[in-house]
Amino acid sequence: MDKLLIEGGLPLRGEATVSGAKNAALPMLTAALLTAEPVTFTNVPELNDIGTMLRLLAQMGVKVERQGGTVTLDASGLDQPVAPYEMVKTMRASILVLGPLVARMGEARVSLPGGCAIGARPVDQHIKGLSAMGAQISVEQGYVHAKCSRLSGARLFTDMVTVTGTENLMMAGCLAAGDTVIENAAREPEVVDLANCLVAMGAQISGAGTDVIRIRGVERLHGATHRIMPDRIETGTYLCAAAATGGDIRLTGTSASYLDVVIDKLMDAGCDIATERDAIRLKAPGRLTAVSIRTAPYPAFPTDMQAQFMAINAVADGTAIIRETIFENRFMHAVELIRLGADIRIDGNTAVVQGVAKLDGATVMATDLRASAGLVIAGLAAQGQTLVDRIYHLDRGYEGLERKLIALGARVRRVK
Ligand code: UD1
Repeated sequence: MDKLLIEGGLPLRGEATVSGAKNAALPMLTAALLTAEPVTFTNVPELNDIGTMLRLLAQMGVKVERQGGTVTLDASGLDQPVAPYEMVKTMRASILVLGPLVARMGEARVSLPGGCAIGARPVDQHIKGLSAMGAQISVEQGYVHAKCSRLSGARLFTDMVTVTGTENLMMAGCLAAGDTVIENAAREPEVVDLANCLVAMGAQISGAGTDVIRIRGVERLHGATHRIMPDRIETGTYLCAAAATGGDIRLTGTSASYLDVVIDKLMDAGCDIATERDAIRLKAPGRLTAVSIRTAPYPAFPTDMQAQFMAINAVADGTAIIRETIFENRFMHAVELIRLGADIRIDGNTAVVQGVAKLDGATVMATDLRASAGLVIAGLAAQGQTLVDRIYHLDRGYEGLERKLIALGARVRRVK
């Protein structure tokens, strides 16, 4: 299993380009299931999760063409509306095929994702919504089996804000008969990007980006070309890496408009941030000031940036309170950060981080994608060598991580 060896203590300096957003690309690739015409996506990041999704779609009969960051999907030959356990277990986002498959094929068999390292993560809201649209759903032998001649528009209300739940139901609504209204919808920028792509394919959607999304169902969708938005979590991760190391970096191919709260917090921590239309520059202070955060659905502070902020608080001046309200078990990086010398106490969904003057390199274990990002940031800030084990998590979500870090002056190396 690959590991990342980091020689810490060097400030990050220079420029890097942010990739397309994983969490926008994944639902968008499944949107291609909704039409028999080819759909082309550009700015698709080269990530293991994207590879998994393309293999899953190919297995269903979708023709996949990929050239660098451009992917064309042709679902005219779609004939196997099945997502098997072997694929779903490696990537929960596979559940995103459920809505498009029932909507276009009238049938889907999708393995239940089960739990994952950061919590139980059920998909009951996806199922509840599709049932309200008329799908007959049974759960047998670990698979969700959904059937329906044609979905009917309905008024849907999700019990909690769910990103992929909103996306699944929005895609299903596009081909349903009549109007669908999703209340308590997720407002994440990736939901808006997906809606823009669906509209380019002929869907009638309004309200994406607010908590009420309205969809007027159409008979069919057509092909389109869509550029995937920049990855706001990758952007935030590099900004934190620069902040933690006392660096000065400029990120291009991204936009501050998706990151208001993260940028505010970095400024509260003492960073100097200048934004351009499609670039962000961060200059870190001599020492960061601790900043407290509370995760919540967009536009509040993203849970996917929580681990990175725990890392920067570990070396900041003062005490930070970190409250995680989205996932029940998302502090596994804390014990690893403690191995590097961080002073962190956990009480339920709250972490109290008392900043220390310096961290010392050690071997740490990555447990999930964003936890790994937090460990890399801490390793870059620590004195001496840090070995991050199980970096396959990082390969799921960060395109060219070592390449970009090296371009920013970090001393990192992948070891087998
Ligand atoms: C998406 C993101 C993930 C991010 C998360 C929260 C993708 C591919 N992944 O995950 O990176 O961390 O949003 O911003 O976009 N829940 C239920 N029942 C459901 C659905 C969700 O109880 O049917 C709960 C979950 O367990 C969790 C909360 O709702 O506690 C929010 O989860 P959700 O927004 O659905 O996360 P994902 O869409 O899986």
